[in-house]
Amino acid sequence: MKRRDILKYGAGLGLLGTTAAISIAKDMMMGHNMPMGSGNMDGMNHHNMAGMHMMGQNDNLMPLSAMQSAQALAPLPLLKNQSSTAGEFVADLVAKKTNAPLIQGFQTEVWAYNGQIPGPQIVVTEGDWVRIRFTNQLSQPTTVHWHGLPAPSDQDGNPHDPVAPGQSRLYEFRLPENSAGTYWYHPHPHGFVSEQVYMGLAGTLIVKAKKDTVAHLPEQHWMISDIRLDKQAKIPGNSMTDWMNGREGQFVLINGQLQPNIQLNGNERIRIWNATSARYLRLQIPGCEWIVIGSDGGLLEKPLPPTDELLLVPAERVEVVLRIKRPQQHYVLQSAYYDRDKMMVKEAPVTTLLGKLQIGDQTANLPQTLRSFPVLGKATAKKQVIFSEAAMDHSNMGMGMAMLQNMFLVNGKSYEMNRMDLVSKAGEIETWDLINNSHMDHPFHIHGTLFEVISRTQNNKTQKMPYRALKDTVNLRPKERVMIQIVQKDKGLRMFHCHILEHENLGMMANLKVI
Ligand code: C2O
Ligand code: CU
Ligand code: CU
Repeated sequence: MKRRDILKYGAGLGLLGTTAAISIAKDMMMGHNMPMGSGNMDGMNHHNMAGMHMMGQNDNLMPLSAMQSAQALAPLPLLKNQSSTAGEFVADLVAKKTNAPLIQGFQTEVWAYNGQIPGPQIVVTEGDWVRIRFTNQLSQPTTVHWHGLPAPSDQDGNPHDPVAPGQSRLYEFRLPENSAGTYWYHPHPHGFVSEQVYMGLAGTLIVKAKKDTVAHLPEQHWMISDIRLDKQAKIPGNSMTDWMNGREGQFVLINGQLQPNIQLNGNERIRIWNATSARYLRLQIPGCEWIVIGSDGGLLEKPLPPTDELLLVPAERVEVVLRIKRPQQHYVLQSAYYDRDKMMVKEAPVTTLLGKLQIGDQTANLPQTLRSFPVLGKATAKKQVIFSEAAMDHSNMGMGMAMLQNMFLVNGKSYEMNRMDLVSKAGEIETWDLINNSHMDHPFHIHGTLFEVISRTQNNKTQKMPYRALKDTVNLRPKERVMIQIVQKDKGLRMFHCHILEHENLGMMANLKVI
């Protein structure tokens, strides 16, 4: 039996011998001594053997009913442009601790950009200069990473460029032509990403196109995030299963609101972000269909045929319009259960209610051609990236932080800041074979550029990608192989990693040097 199966079924279903079970439990309890950010293991302390197999904090969680819900959905507040010069966006961004009244009668300590959860939305246009003066008022180093944007390597919030507590820096970059799309920003310091994001640091960013074929449609934005609160309305640290499977909070929020009431018209362009650390969203509105018109990196070439369901994995974005199939007075927006083969937990397949909708009967007038973008051409270099989980080690049944830190691997290794794992030439077209050689889903993400998915192979069946899209994040199913085509235009250091933030934090990441 492989370690993973023991992790998955052993402790959960009582198949383990008592000695082994106790040794795992003991190491889990001791896990909080390992250096992993700050205080991440707190969630573990009050777990006894009986509750061990679940490892969630279900018994100590704030009930959903404690948070106000069913309020009208509010738009995301904007980060104000302080510049009056055309083609320039200037603003201040501060990361700091703040108290948020998330639950009536409590103040929750969160870490927020400009005191806001979610962080303020940045709206800029292709060709703009972006100048963000950033100040770190946290007690840990941090960075701001511009997820998906082609920012120069030294402006992209790499873990190699931490902003120390109390320090400031300027992030400065120009948005090239054809960079319109739906992006976001979040911290990326080495060893602290999981905690800083689950404490509240993340915001959305939109790059508008100068020529936009659907500019006539009104827009609506749904940033989906989740947060975990205990009975004292505190955000607890990660448990062992959070580190293994990625952390999911019990409150799934849209624009920071629980189950809001959404007023929508059928002609609206909806941008949706999955800004959760690890939650897979299978978005459905029974009675309606989704027409996908854009992905991470902006509009597609043509609208896709309508579908009942949108799969949005952590860090992915999408642009859609709705089409009503069976008219009704009210609709619900829900996320169906997604089985991503987590370790050590047995979950009931629950559907999560995200919001209620009223949908007006206008329909979107979509052009046949949304956009054109050049075909990349023939690749002249090839790379392989293998995501894996460490093999069973019989001599060490321990499950402390040290084991976790060597568990999730890229090309057989755990991340090291100063090791260059792959080298690319700036401007060279490459195909990358992304292989998930593990039993769990992992969303692959790379910095600095957008790529196109060419094909997917699973169980020896290869499917060509049925349409073209510019992406920076793509899911890898267990044992799946995804071929992408990619060019890094600029020289410098880039990261690629699993975007389950706990996995990234544990070292499921590698460095790409572009020369
Ligand atoms: Cu959204 Cu390397 O991150
Ligand atoms: Cu990124
Ligand atoms: Cu992962």
